[in-house]
Amino acid sequence: PGPGPSFALHPHPSPVPAERRAELLANPGFGRVFTDHMVVINYSEGRGWHDARVEARAPIPMDPAAAVLHYAQEIFEGMKAYATGNGGASLFRPEANARRFAESAARLAMPALPEDLFVESVRQLVAVDRDWIPTTAGASLYLRPFMFASEVFLGVKPSAEYLYMVIASPVGRYFKGGAETVSVWVSQDYTRAAPGGTGAAKCGGNYAASLVAQAEAARHGCDQVVFLDAAERRWVEELGGMNIFFAFDDGSLATPPLGTILPGITRDSVMALARRDGIPVREEPYSLDQWRADAASGRLREAFACGTAAVITPIGTVKTPDGGFAIGGGENAGEITKRLRTALTDIQRGIAPDPFGWVQ
Ligand code: COI
Repeated sequence: PGPGPSFALHPHPSPVPAERRAELLANPGFGRVFTDHMVVINYSEGRGWHDARVEARAPIPMDPAAAVLHYAQEIFEGMKAYATGNGGASLFRPEANARRFAESAARLAMPALPEDLFVESVRQLVAVDRDWIPTTAGASLYLRPFMFASEVFLGVKPSAEYLYMVIASPVGRYFKGGAETVSVWVSQDYTRAAPGGTGAAKCGGNYAASLVAQAEAARHGCDQVVFLDAAERRWVEELGGMNIFFAFDDGSLATPPLGTILPGITRDSVMALARRDGIPVREEPYSLDQWRADAASGRLREAFACGTAAVITPIGTVKTPDGGFAIGGGENAGEITKRLRTALTDIQRGIAPDPFGWVQ
């Protein structure tokens, strides 16, 4: 490999004062507080990637005919940075996000950003905005790399120009409300992804398509929507913005197989941690009917949602148009959920040893 990508640094002329930053970090919520800087890299056909820089976070000028505004050629990632004791910062499996970003790009007919450039861009932003990493329990610096079509053209074709950017947002819990478990609504009318579609790519369009179903979930008093498969409307696939796991009375775990779902990095990490601890994990289709029957019989002990934003969040109740059911009493996290959550977050925060080499 040649010399690493070099980033120009243009520091913010008037960053948020330390006192105000401390106030913001005390209770950041999710996704509304942002750091002082952002990464920008341009792409144009012929030149490739160029002008990598870290600069003051600011609105971006955009032509109204920019392709992304019309045809949604856009992808993104989600990852977290944690403060380390020595004044540094660590990332969790950044190369896995880099690989998935490249796979999403391929599905959306976008140019691949070299994976080392992706990882380096995130590191650059975290280094410059290191003081924005919250240190309170459960909080971290959420990083949002994304790329969109910026060519000014209304023809339907892959854009000849793109902007890649990274922004950062100190975050606490994804779910509002103090309850330990979340409730989910099983959508009957909407699906998220069909075979051959974009379900495995992390593109904005998938999330746009989930919003009306998520709104329906909220109308039914639920925190998240659950999507069934598009072909048979039978198999549980994933939540609006996270993957799902089921824990059974024989000590095993199951999760829907890859294909039309997002290949979650938290999902993959949960499987690895479970297998390390001798918990068998099956990636296999699980139907709504079976879910209901297993919850009633007690065969299903626990269910949880997982993702970078959601971490591991237990599911307490499930609602469908034909009525609802509770999982393991509905109120509290179960033992396997708690154990896996602690195992994952202790590695992420550098509290536990990291046999997988995930923390970088
Ligand atoms: C993440 O977990 O990082 C996501 O991108 C999902 C979204 C619900 C925030």
